[in-house]
Amino acid sequence: MAGRRNVRPVRHGGAPAGWLDLSANPNPLGTPAAVRAAIGAARYDRYADLDVCAAERHLAADAGVPRALVLLTAGASEALRLIATALIEPGVRGVVAGPTYGEYARVAALAGATTDEVCATEPSFDPPLAALASALKAPGRAIVVICDPNNPTGRSIGASGYRRLLGALRAPEAGEAILVVDQSFAPFAAARSPIGALLATERALLVRSLTKRLAVPGVRVGYVLGPPRLLARLRAVRDPWPVGAHAIAAASAARWELGRSERARIVAWRSSLASGLAAHGLRPVRSDANFVLAWAGPRAREILVGLARRRIAVRDATSFDLPGYLRVAVCPPAEQALLLAALDALRAAPAPGSAQ
Ligand SMILES: Cc1ncc(COP(=O)(O)O)c(C=O)c1O
Repeated sequence: MAGRRNVRPVRHGGAPAGWLDLSANPNPLGTPAAVRAAIGAARYDRYADLDVCAAERHLAADAGVPRALVLLTAGASEALRLIATALIEPGVRGVVAGPTYGEYARVAALAGATTDEVCATEPSFDPPLAALASALKAPGRAIVVICDPNNPTGRSIGASGYRRLLGALRAPEAGEAILVVDQSFAPFAAARSPIGALLATERALLVRSLTKRLAVPGVRVGYVLGPPRLLARLRAVRDPWPVGAHAIAAASAARWELGRSERARIVAWRSSLASGLAAHGLRPVRSDANFVLAWAGPRAREILVGLARRRIAVRDATSFDLPGYLRVAVCPPAEQALLLAALDALRAAPAPGSAQ
């Protein structure tokens, strides 16, 4: 595994306790009461508490698929690692729709593969569907990854995009590539994915972070939907008891989809955040997620430093190869007011020593 020595850790969001943290993206509506109660009641003093059957059955029913198509994981992170470890072998190449979450390339590199990035371009960052469809049809073995909606751009595949990817998977000349869709932020998007059709191709894996959906970053929980033959390969490379009792309890009480009024609140908060950022001279990218990427140009550094002085964290997108962009989590109106007041104060008195 020649590349392994050079694999670097990926930068992630997150801020010290006591800060207004808009640099990470859990569900801004918080943890559902039923999930909180289930975590509080979780037992953890017997190995039987680590039985995932009921949780996987529940997630399968919630997704409308048979139980055999669900694998409970310790967050989407474990799912991504399992996919790379189990499916990357000599001769398998990685293709990733960028700019995107850096863990895809990192776990691929740890498994010994290099990753080609097919990139969305500014200002719209439309998903590079044509390039992905070609990668799915190309001869040879590949793992083709897209994040939907994408972190950090917020752009989603949409119904027509999914039709295009399905067409490529079903094309007579289709290769052996496996499509991985990281749907960690999908509950916040408008379009639903055609789960049944994707899984029926036997060449798609859908990765879901319940950590994000349930706003429980401290409870490592997620799952994969996929055909049993691929899930069996993922199971084969796991450590024993990978998912803790609190995560299993959370999954057993989880719903993937947001309710109609929950979605409406997120959409309203997202659009007021985007308007507020635009009113402060930033250029927001259209988002279908619970965060907004915005172009701040040469002011990006000054804004980051000035907000940090006020204990407000937003995400510098430089590590996504997007210098000049900031990613801001969708948050309730009171938190947006704090952010926008801080941006006002910064315009009136830029942070000293913050010039690029
Ligand atoms: C796109 C994407 N996928 C997966 C993850 C990891 O999610 P989890 O916390 O469930 O491991 C993240 C975390 O930020 C993410 O942004």
